Amino acid sequence: MSKINAAITGIQGYVPEYILTNDELATMVVTSDEWITTRTGIKERHILKGEGLGTSDMAVEAVKGLLKKTNTSPDEVDLVICATVTPDMVYPATANIISDKVGIKNAFSFDINAACSGFIYALVTASKYVESGGYKKVIVVGGDKMSSVVDYTDRTTCIIFGDAAGAVMLEPSEEGYGIQDSILKVDGSGRVHLHQKAGGSVRPASIETVTNREHFVYQEGQAVFKFAVTKMADVSVEIMEKNNLKSEDIAWLVPHQANLRIIEATARRMGLEKDKVMINIQKYGNTTNGTIPMCLYEWEDQLKKGDNIILSAFGGGFTWGSIYLKWAYDGKR
Ligand code: UT7
Repeated sequence: MSKINAAITGIQGYVPEYILTNDELATMVVTSDEWITTRTGIKERHILKGEGLGTSDMAVEAVKGLLKKTNTSPDEVDLVICATVTPDMVYPATANIISDKVGIKNAFSFDINAACSGFIYALVTASKYVESGGYKKVIVVGGDKMSSVVDYTDRTTCIIFGDAAGAVMLEPSEEGYGIQDSILKVDGSGRVHLHQKAGGSVRPASIETVTNREHFVYQEGQAVFKFAVTKMADVSVEIMEKNNLKSEDIAWLVPHQANLRIIEATARRMGLEKDKVMINIQKYGNTTNGTIPMCLYEWEDQLKKGDNIILSAFGGGFTWGSIYLKWAYDGKR
């Protein structure tokens, strides 16, 4: 039997309706459209409004669309992995809630938390199940309702994040398409620079933690920026060299959308022109686990069978990594 690769055979994204513009943010904190645009590249982001709605509600929209366009019945799905840092609840896993809401009954499911690198961590994990030969249809969904953990009085973080979800179907390919290689990394000492202080077992929720606004994203922007800009570029170049890929061999870079300056620096190090880089940060901001699937979704109709694609991310943890894949189908499904 020939080698089994895990190939993406469908993709669907979802963003909530409400658009929070830079100008609206400037009515909430001392900032300006000009500052946000030049420092981050972000113009607007989508926010999930409505009582009782969480990450799973966006993920469900993405997964339902994915099942429809790949002609898959919920009963056929073997595994669902959800990458998120804003789970509906501390437990059970949001993947379980998504499976239930979509009617997936013959699968097992779990969450992965690797912050902004979560989607590529989850994709690599899922690919190992598919490559084993035992799993035929695996869904990887990345999504975050970042607005649930963003402090809208803190101008250094509230301008960055948005809400979104995206889902891909992974299936076996014996023709060599799909994931070819991956490099995943972690440096846990980086946790001091980017984390959520309270709500975990070390510092459970209390009146004090709420008063101190400790249930929000805490980020030392410059420290994170320095690591992100170096590590995301390093790992992207490393995966190219490991696979003997020259810049002209690469059809697309799909970078995590944290800051336009980080994306541009990564592309420069890889020797890629801007027209080979998926960038939609201006519309959605940093949607954490939603960025990479939202890019693939928006560019799907431009992708061709056999395209060499590099996915790259950097996130809290610190976590970072790259995936090299060969796209498995032409255009929009
Ligand atoms: O997604 C996973 C990982 N996350 C990242 O990759 C994010 C990495 N970090 C960044 O993208 C950037 O560090 C930020 C966008 C968060 C901040 O940009 P920066 O260029 O690093 O700004 P800074 O923190 O160095 O702040 C520069 C100045 C400061 O004023 P002073 O001290 O020079 O007077 C800030 O107070 O800009 C000020 N500032 C703002 N001004 C207007 C910070 N935020 C704002 C704001 N509007 N929203």
